[in-house]
Amino acid sequence: MPATVIVGAQWGDEGKGKIVDLLALDSDFVCRYQGGPNAGHTIVVDGETFKIRQIPSGVLRGKTCVIGAGCVVDPEVFLTEVDELESRGVSTGVVHLSGEAHLIMPWHVAIDQASERRLGKLQIGTTRRGIGPCYADKAARLGIRVQDLLEPKILRQKIEVALAEKNVWLERVYGVPPLALEEIAAQLESFAQRIRPYVSDTSLLVDQALREGREVLMEGAQGTLLDLDHGTYPFVTSSNTVAGNAATGIGIGPNRIDRVIGIAKAYVTRVGEGPFPTEIEGPDQERVRELGGEFGTVTGRERRCGWLDLVALRYAVRLNGITSLALTKLDVLSHFAELPVCVAYRLRDGSETYGPRVRRVRRGGARCRDFARRHRRGARERRRAALIEDQARPLTAHAFAPSVNAPSGSPSRRRHSSRNAARRSASSDKVYAPAGPTPAVNGSQ
Ligand code: IMP
Repeated sequence: MPATVIVGAQWGDEGKGKIVDLLALDSDFVCRYQGGPNAGHTIVVDGETFKIRQIPSGVLRGKTCVIGAGCVVDPEVFLTEVDELESRGVSTGVVHLSGEAHLIMPWHVAIDQASERRLGKLQIGTTRRGIGPCYADKAARLGIRVQDLLEPKILRQKIEVALAEKNVWLERVYGVPPLALEEIAAQLESFAQRIRPYVSDTSLLVDQALREGREVLMEGAQGTLLDLDHGTYPFVTSSNTVAGNAATGIGIGPNRIDRVIGIAKAYVTRVGEGPFPTEIEGPDQERVRELGGEFGTVTGRERRCGWLDLVALRYAVRLNGITSLALTKLDVLSHFAELPVCVAYRLRDGSETYGPRVRRVRRGGARCRDFARRHRRGARERRRAALIEDQARPLTAHAFAPSVNAPSGSPSRRRHSSRNAARRSASSDKVYAPAGPTPAVNGSQ
C-alpha cells in the first residue's frame, strides 16, 4: 500500500504528528498537501523536543520531505526552521518545496492580523499567520509563488504591483501603517538565494516514487471540520483539509491513493471561534485541558475541550473515505469516572441525526459501543449523554453566519448567543446535519 493519506478527523490537533512520525519510520516520503505555518507539530525524538510548523516532520527521520503545491509557505518561517534543524544536527537536504506553492508575504500577515482586530467579536480566531489572505490572493490570481523566487526581476515586479494595492488596504481600510517596498524586496531577495536549492518539481518526484513502489505518506494539516468547503464555515481554515485534496495538493491522480488513515482524539478540542456541540461545561473542561496539555503549538492559545462527538466523526469518515482510524490520547480520559459521548444531534424538528446508515437513535447513546456502553447502565448516565445531544440543538444554519452570531466570550456566552441567534432566525428550518441522512446544509448565506 504505497500511498497513504493521514487526515485529522476533528478540528485539528488530533495528534497527527505522532502517528506520522511513527509511520514515517516505514515510509520513504512524507508530504504535506495543504496549509502552512498555521499547523504545528511537537515531536519528541530520542528525548529531544522539536516544534515544526512548515517542514514535514519526516525530516527528523531523514525521509524525503515534500511541501506540495497546495501549501502556502512563509519563507521566513521556512528558513528559521531550516536553521534550527541544521543547528541541531538534522539535515534539511531531504526537503523539496514545490515551485507552485504560494508565498505568504508580510502583507498577508499584516492583513490577517488587522482583519481579525477589525472584526472584534465577530473574528474567526485565526492563527494570524497570513493563511487566509494568502489563499485569497491565490484564488484571485494575484499570488506570488515559490518559483517567482528564482527570477529576481519578476519577483521585484510582482512585489511592487502587489504592495501598491495592499498598502492601500492596510492604510485606508484597516488604518495601519503601510509596508516599505525596499525593505520587503531586499528581504525576499535574500530569502530567495537560500530557498532556491529546495525548489523542485514535487509532483513529478512523488509520481516517480509511487511508480517505483516506494512508500509515500501524505499528511494533512488542521482537521476535517476546518475544511474550507465541508467544515464549520466560516470558522474554518482557507484550504481543503480533507483527504481528497491530497491528490490535488501534491499533484497526483486520486486513484493513486491507497488508504486513508483518520486521526481522532478520544475527546475533541478546537482552537478559535465557531460551533462546538460537545464543548464541556464547568471545571471538567479545564481538567481535560490540563491533563491533555491542550494549548496550541503555534499560538499557545488554550484549546476548547469537548467530549467525543461521534456524529462529527462519522461525518469525517464519510467525507475522507477513512479506511482506518487511530484514536489518540485515550489515557487523558482515564482520570474521569464517567465519559459522556455525543451519539446524535437533535434537530429543531425534534428528530435526531447521528449517522449515514441508521436514522434513529435511542437517547443515551446505547448504540455507541466503546465509551457510551457505560451509559446503558443507568438513568443518570443517560441524562448526561442526552445533555450533550441537547447542546447540538442550536446548530441551525444561522449559527454559522458571523454577521448573525459569531460567538465570543466564554463558552457559555457563546452557546447563549448561538441559541439566541437561532431563536431570532426561527424562520429557517435548515439544519447543520453532518453525517445525517441528508447532506450538510451550508448555512452561511
Ligand atoms: P487560519 O488557518 O490561521 O486562517 O485559522 C482559521 C481557523 O483554523 C482558526 O479557528 C484556527 O484556530 C484554526 N486552525 C488553523 N490551524 C490550526 C491547527 O493546526 N490546529 C487547530 N486549529 C487550527
